[in-house]
Amino acid sequence: MQYNIPISQKDLKIENEKIEFEKRHDELYENHPDLLCSVDIYGIITDCNGSYAKNLGYTKEEIIGQSIFKYVSNISKELIVNEFNQWSATLKKSTNVEIWIERKDGTIFPVLFNTINIIYNNSVVGQTIFLRDISEMNKLKKQIEEQTKKRLLVVGELSARLAHDLRNPLSVLKNTIPLIQLKNPILYENTSSDFIRMEHAITRMAHQVDEVLSYVKQKPVNLEKIFLSTLLKFTIERLKIPDKIQLKFPQKDYEIFCDLEKMEVVFINLIINATQAMEERGSISIAAYDEKEWINIEFSDTGPGIPPELLERIFEPLFTTKQIGTGLGLVSCKNIIENHKGTITVKGTEKSGTTFLIKLPKKVDLANTLQ
Ligand SMILES: Nc1ncnc2c1ncn2[C@@H]1O[C@H](COP(=O)(O)OP(=O)(O)OP(=O)(O)O)[C@@H](O)[C@H]1O
Ligand SMILES: [Mg+2]
Repeated sequence: MQYNIPISQKDLKIENEKIEFEKRHDELYENHPDLLCSVDIYGIITDCNGSYAKNLGYTKEEIIGQSIFKYVSNISKELIVNEFNQWSATLKKSTNVEIWIERKDGTIFPVLFNTINIIYNNSVVGQTIFLRDISEMNKLKKQIEEQTKKRLLVVGELSARLAHDLRNPLSVLKNTIPLIQLKNPILYENTSSDFIRMEHAITRMAHQVDEVLSYVKQKPVNLEKIFLSTLLKFTIERLKIPDKIQLKFPQKDYEIFCDLEKMEVVFINLIINATQAMEERGSISIAAYDEKEWINIEFSDTGPGIPPELLERIFEPLFTTKQIGTGLGLVSCKNIIENHKGTITVKGTEKSGTTFLIKLPKKVDLANTLQ
């Protein structure tokens, strides 16, 4: 004999609320503007929303039961497999991973990949994947980049002309100071602190002018074979290294292909940046080693390091955190190194201090570079 156990008013209310909640959840899932799908722990799709099916050009029936990897373009497959394996091991959600998705017709589009865990009876049984189509955003970003490039070109031309015209009067001012000192020693002595201030101001202006000029006049590189030690010697001769800065040189010497003058500009910029970051007290280590087809040169300092949120911006033209910086130093370095078919990057700054890594090809395709 079966008895119907009466449901209390309270239980009924809870049950109704649960049904209502699930209904709202289903509606939200279905009508979410992102492409949503749910997968089990093996990456098999158990559900997806209309937006997912529509954007990929399949029906829901075709999608459910398939592996999530099926819809990822080949260019992002490795990345997404790694991401999934990491999730399997740690259950950590993915945040804003940029990947490419492939539609049924073979076309691909970029998305941001985010996940949250699906929990049932206190265990993770899968994840809900949110894909945000960023094709429009990328197009817009590209347009803005193009516009900025065009604007910078105009600004560049104007600044080049200005910088060029300022160079001569500046050297006149600079050369006049020793002349005054010679012609009128008493005046110089009485007002020497003013003259020193003037000299500093002129040096600062000359630096700005030089930076602008070396950034805007990008001539083809004139390659020659030179020992790194010689190049470093020339560089140091052109710099005034503060007393409290210790310089450490590479233990091994290498011959490199480079444009001597331009590579000096790079080294000078990196050493000055390091000196400024350390507030003229600390050490700069220069290391060199070869790695496959590259000669690697590292400049490490014991300064405060670069905050992660600024790392992406330091190679942008005009980006500076200094009151009297032009923000053209690192972008000039990057242009010069890229013209040598090399790369310049910041190595992980997990400890304090910053390390810039320059990779120069051992063999440079001369014809290619000089065209
Ligand atoms: N070694 C370093 N340690 C810490 N921050 C650095 C280091 N090198 C560069 N930076 C950061 O990168 C920014 C950009 O450097 P960049 O050389 O392009 O311009 P700048 O040094 O500010 O100006 P300029 O080179 O014209 O004097 C700096 O303002 C600084 O914030
Ligand atoms: Mg600088």
